[in-house]
Amino acid sequence: MDFEPKFIAFCCNWCSYAAADLAATTRMQYPHNVRIIRVMCSGMVHPEYIVDALNQGADGVMVIGCHLGECHYLDGNYKALDRSTMITSLLEDFGYDRERFALTWVSSAEPDKFVRAIIEMTDTIRKLGPVSRSQAA
Ligand code: FES
Repeated sequence: MDFEPKFIAFCCNWCSYAAADLAATTRMQYPHNVRIIRVMCSGMVHPEYIVDALNQGADGVMVIGCHLGECHYLDGNYKALDRSTMITSLLEDFGYDRERFALTWVSSAEPDKFVRAIIEMTDTIRKLGPVSRSQAA
């Protein structure tokens, strides 16, 4: 049986979650591989959440926030951006491929961009294959 990844997308309430909602209400199709977790801001996603998600069985994790300059809490997405470099190196320390993490920006008016991001992440993780749990941890 082909590998079907499962991954988490932390979506900010104000933009990307609204885009996901709009994608659903306008009947846009996107892979069922994503599990969305709504957060108030991308800046509240602590690096530990990313590692925990992978340790607990996710094949990848996305953080999707408002475009830079449009965060409803002013600089939350800049915090997320600053953390992203640290997160990718942290993942490598834990034995995970850095491509298992992605950070992107989607506004509430961009359901098509949200759908593309989910499709691309699904394809990326599908190519990587499942996490080797013996390497990670
Ligand atoms: S409120 Fe959306 S990234 Fe901060």
